[in-house]
Amino acid sequence: MSGGRIPIQCTVTGAAGQISYSLLFRIAHGDMFGPDQPVVLRLLEIEPAMKALEGVAMELDDCAFPLLAGTELTSKPEVAFDGADWALLVGAAPRKQGMERSDLLSVNGGIFAPQGKTIAQKASSGVRILVVGNPANTNAYIARMNAPEVPAERWFAMTRLDENRARSQLAQKAKVPVAALSNVAIWGNHSTTQYPDAHNARIAGLPVEEVITDHGWLKGKFVEIIQKRGAAVIEARGASSAASAANAVIDSVVSIRTPTPWGDWHSLAVVSHGEYGVPEGLQFGYPVRSDGDHWEVVPDLQHDDDAWKRIRVTTQELLQEQEMVKSLIPAQPAS
Ligand code: NAD
Ligand code: LMR
Repeated sequence: MSGGRIPIQCTVTGAAGQISYSLLFRIAHGDMFGPDQPVVLRLLEIEPAMKALEGVAMELDDCAFPLLAGTELTSKPEVAFDGADWALLVGAAPRKQGMERSDLLSVNGGIFAPQGKTIAQKASSGVRILVVGNPANTNAYIARMNAPEVPAERWFAMTRLDENRARSQLAQKAKVPVAALSNVAIWGNHSTTQYPDAHNARIAGLPVEEVITDHGWLKGKFVEIIQKRGAAVIEARGASSAASAANAVIDSVVSIRTPTPWGDWHSLAVVSHGEYGVPEGLQFGYPVRSDGDHWEVVPDLQHDDDAWKRIRVTTQELLQEQEMVKSLIPAQPAS
């Protein structure tokens, strides 16, 4: 065991799927929890995929990762989430060409209510959860509402892939290295209504609008590229993004676990406490900064009328999705 440290118990659902095939090896290599931190992978699949999962586990063995302190393969959620410090909820059907992510709600929504309940019963008291399966924001909302014992601040849905896409597009347009980009936020839903915010982003510390003078592109094409990038990948690849999604899972968890560099932020969908006028309880994409233990939504950012309009549109979409999954949400005790 590396340096005598207690291994982190990391549950990954959908462990025989496409994203997991890129994700598990990076976790076992130390990219998520650090080069001195051993990890046990607790891998959940549905019964028909267990044989494929065994193959993945064989490959993990064959890498001889020094940090991999164990693998548990199971089709039982109560085993997979037992003692979990981190739960990465990837297992869900991906969309096909021509679908919106919200079309997956009827197929995938039902996965997340029982998983939320099992996490509340079986996971470690400090568990943190990142939802990746689409539609990620509303699936996170479903799971969270079924686990009232787990503080709402421990639930995250993934908007980091959108942030990374935005960083790359802005860097290419400005002809600068991606490392020059900071303060890139994705507001709202991981869907075609999301608002990728170039106005508050920086290139080498300067407002993006000072470096990229094609403001028509920033307000139009740029936003559209990011909103529709998932569909563009599906059209080109014939399957939904996987390696870039796995990379964004790693980035998300690292950003939650490590202090955010001074002045910067990263994109995560977290529970709204009403910040920026978003109704309380929505799982909403915000700019977030972390001190390694706690996170906060970055306050006091400025938006023009167009940005506020986009934020209202994505808020409305999340409220509609919330309405669609009402039957999966247990009645809340009257306060
Ligand atoms: P995939 O079909 O390759 O893998 C999904 C796996 O989940 C399958 O192996 C399936 O057997 C398993 N699964 C299904 N139901 C399960 C359950 N109840 N418990 C455990 N496992 C279960 O799909 P993928 O490409 O890995 O994508 C997974 C999900 O992630 C999709 O919903 C996709 O749309 C979503 N996604 C989200 C983002 C994001 O940015 N938030 C990015 C890419 C993909
Ligand atoms: C993505 O953004 O690539 C994923 O959410 C997959 C999809 O359906 O677009």
